Formats: sequence, C-alpha cells, structure tokens
Amino acid sequence: MSAEIKNLKDLQNVEYSLEKLFSDAEDFLPLLGTDYVELYVGNAKQSALYYKTAFGFQSEAYAGLETGLKDRVSYVLKQDKIRLVLTTPLTSDSPINEHLQKHGDGVKVIALWVENATKAFEETTKRGARPFMEPTCEEDENGQVIRSGIYTYGETVHIFVERKNYQGIFLPGYRKWESHYNPEPTGLKFIDHMVGNVDWNEMNTWCEFYKKVMGFAQIISFDDNDISTEYTALMSKVMSNGNGRIKFPINEPAEGKKKSQIEEYIDFYNGAGVQHIAVATNDIVATVSAMRDRGVEFLYVPETYYDDLLERVGDIEEDIEVLKQHGILIDRDEEGYLLQLFTKPVVDRPTMFFEIIQRKGAQSFGKGNFKALFESIEREQESRGTL
Ligand code: FE2
Repeated sequence: MSAEIKNLKDLQNVEYSLEKLFSDAEDFLPLLGTDYVELYVGNAKQSALYYKTAFGFQSEAYAGLETGLKDRVSYVLKQDKIRLVLTTPLTSDSPINEHLQKHGDGVKVIALWVENATKAFEETTKRGARPFMEPTCEEDENGQVIRSGIYTYGETVHIFVERKNYQGIFLPGYRKWESHYNPEPTGLKFIDHMVGNVDWNEMNTWCEFYKKVMGFAQIISFDDNDISTEYTALMSKVMSNGNGRIKFPINEPAEGKKKSQIEEYIDFYNGAGVQHIAVATNDIVATVSAMRDRGVEFLYVPETYYDDLLERVGDIEEDIEVLKQHGILIDRDEEGYLLQLFTKPVVDRPTMFFEIIQRKGAQSFGKGNFKALFESIEREQESRGTL
C-alpha cells in the first residue's frame, strides 16, 4: 500500500484492503463445527451402554479386534449432531493406559470439522501450537479422510477432520455398529460449548492460545467481582471462533471461602482438562425428565432458588412450578434467557459432567445462576443453623 491516496475512492480502497487483511487474518482457521468428542475410558463397552441407556445416544460405528485393530477398541455413539467416541486400550503397553491412570475417564479429543486439515495444521503450528498428529490420510472403500492434530490445555488435543471426500459411517477402519438395543433419544441436539478447567493463573495463557493460535475472540468474561466474593471460586472467559459454532469457556480457580470446585477438578484430573460438555435441547423439561428417569443424576437445586426467580429473570414462557419440579435453572441476559441444568460428575472422580441447555435468545452461559445457586444454598444452611 505504497501508492499515494489522491481521492475518496482511493481511501475507500485502502479501507477495503485493510478490512480484507483483517478478515483474512481471522479466517486462517475456518471451522465448520464440532466433528466428534473422544473420551478415553476404562471400559468402553460398559460406558457405551451407559450413554445409550441414560443419555439416549444411538449405536453408530465400531472399531476393534474384529476390524483389524490390535491395541484398542472404539465405540461411536450419535444423537442428532453429537458424536461421542469411547476408546479403551486392549494392551497393557498402550499409551492410552497412562492417560487413564493419570486422569481417569475423560475427554482426550475435541475434534473440529474443517475444509482442509493440512492447512489447519500448518496455520496453527506456525503460530505456536504443539503438534499431536501430522496431517495423515486414511482411506477405505468409502473414500478418504485427512486428519491432523495439535495439543491444547493439559493433555487434551484438537484433531482437525477433513471429510469432504468420505462417504463412510465415521472414519476409515470403522464399521457400522448394529445393536438390538436402541433406547430412544432424549432430545440432545448439538454441542453448545465445551468448558476447559486450567490451573491457577493459567486462564489468560489459554485464552491467548485460542486467540493467537486458532484465531478465536473473547466474547464474555466474569471474575470474582461479578459473583458473590464470599462464595465465588472461579474465574472464566469464553473464547469463540469466527462463526460462533465453537465456544470454549476457560475456567481457572479463584480464592474463596471454600475450596474452588475448579481446584478440586485439577487435583483429581491431575491437571487441566475438559470440565463439562454442554449439549443443547429444544425441550429441556422433556430431556431432563427422560434422563432422570433413566438414571442420570443432576445437581441438586434447593427450592429456595425459585423464591426470587421472577425478580431476577423477569417473565418467562415456562411454568415455574414445572421448572422447580425438575430443578431447572434460568438466567437472563440482554438478548433473552436460557434454561440449564448440570449433571453430577458422570465418572467416579469428581471431574467431568454434562450441562443440558435450552437457549431462548440468550447467548451467555448462566453467570447469574452461580450467585443464585450459592445464595439459595446459603439460605438452606441458614434455616438449618449451619452457616
Ligand atoms: Fe456451561
């Protein structure tokens, strides 16, 4: 841009070039969506039964000894747009064992669907990402898939999946998983966001990683000043990619009266990792009651939570009595409101859990519920004289 600016049109061209430069810079990693989430688990066969029975996932694909794998087995489950992969090692020398020993069952891979996995790898490693998997082409009679991968917080990785030339069920090497046991779905639609817990003072480092390495932008933040300082125990920032399809809130522990729940996670997971997977539904009452009937345990919401609900969130379409009956939480922001509920940890260590969320305009993450939940628990304690 060394040419002289002689008139308004030139100036407009300069502006246009700058704008283009800026959007190109942000678009170096176009993401089409979440491709799959892979959990390393101690016993994939039994975990698969849990996610089918309790969450309503459907049998989708399978790879193991019968398909030529020697060292591990993977079950792929699906519900609407959500794909879960459950992987267990079959041999004692598999590196997956180390992961399990250290972290217990948990999310290893957040796979992202891309147009070009080679370019995604080049662009991110060029910006400082630690490589996990060089671009690799896998093929079978249904076509080819190219995958590559980088590390994010802890031992969690992002795998970029390019599947435009593939027509198979999941990935090359997998076969359709036929099962006679097919419980009904519970209405889970897609992954709304996935939250990472990182260690003390590391939130900004990882937000910077998503900004610099993956071109994300920060959309929301809240710290201990936003919530009751007496009870708050975490700080959070939400990073989003350009089209908003991928949202990663990052939490770090904060000092509070009690031990931070984030610190507890870090202790039991032995480091940073995925805290919760938030899945969207169009009917949270139906989804939550179906899941509860099938054995999912949700976080306990004291009845006192609903006492000041209307003052806090204003008018809502739902019957508060019904929400109360199901223990569903509500929060409002400038754009609308949301309904949400958290499961208890779905594994034995107090680490990973799920969130069920229904958005009615709101684009935030339920910040108001932290305070409201803490306060209602406090009211209960007060009534018992244990505060
Ligand atoms: Fe969440």
